[in-house]
Amino acid sequence: MDYTAYGEPVMVKLLKTYIRGFDEEIGGGIPLGHVVLVTGSPGTMKSTLAYNILYNAVKRDKMSSLYISLEQSSRSLLFQMVRCGMKETFGDDLLIVDLAKIRKQLDEARDKPWLEILRKHIQYIIAKNRYQIIVIDSLPVLEILTRMENKRTQFFHFFEWLRDLKLTSFIITEISDDPTILRDEEFLADGVIYLSMKQVGEIDIHRRIRCIKMRGMDHSTSQFTLEFKKNEFRVTRAI
Ligand SMILES: Nc1ncnc2c1ncn2[C@@H]1O[C@H](COP(=O)(O)OP(=O)(O)O)[C@@H](O)[C@H]1O
Ligand SMILES: [Mg+2]
Repeated sequence: MDYTAYGEPVMVKLLKTYIRGFDEEIGGGIPLGHVVLVTGSPGTMKSTLAYNILYNAVKRDKMSSLYISLEQSSRSLLFQMVRCGMKETFGDDLLIVDLAKIRKQLDEARDKPWLEILRKHIQYIIAKNRYQIIVIDSLPVLEILTRMENKRTQFFHFFEWLRDLKLTSFIITEISDDPTILRDEEFLADGVIYLSMKQVGEIDIHRRIRCIKMRGMDHSTSQFTLEFKKNEFRVTRAI
């Protein structure tokens, strides 16, 4: 939390996740301008959750959003989201950019480091439309593309760069083996949201969500059961 010269807390504007029941648990939402990691193993609905946040931000709060999809083509991602009930499209206000598009646009920059190419591309898109929220799906793919050497320094500068652009950022990443051990990017991020699946009884698998870190917020760190029904995420107390 930031304080004024008089020691009063500075009111921060929050981005609602619209995950029903979850915003209340994290203190109302995610502070605008934060870099938030969405982490979990494959199939824990990281991409769907991130897209759903953008979808609601555009639809309900008129905040334009950019989804950088490095794992999936925009076509495949959109197909998946439509199948999940997110049928509306918002043109450039919810723009999906995939690897093929970035490659094409920046062919002449072939020899440049990938992180630099990505930055240039984001800058180019942002110059055309003032985006407020960005998703980068995913960090491991970016790491492979960039052949990162000094990871910690590179992430540090990249996250700072995103903050300077006044973007609220969601960076999708893969879970470390032990979620209690924080990695470089988790130290550097302002927030970490962890998604998991838990076997309950012999057959049932429950989805779970947990806010591990959210700078400036007095948030719950409990695990919640996460459900996705009729185009809406909701949480209940984990059993
Ligand atoms: N309509 C749906 N309703 C609920 N869950 C779905 C639906 N469609 C797909 N899923 C689940 O979402 C998972 C994929 O979500 P995704 O966001 O791609 O995960 P991740 O990005 O974490 O790998 C699928 O494995 C499936 O279990
Ligand atoms: Mg994904």
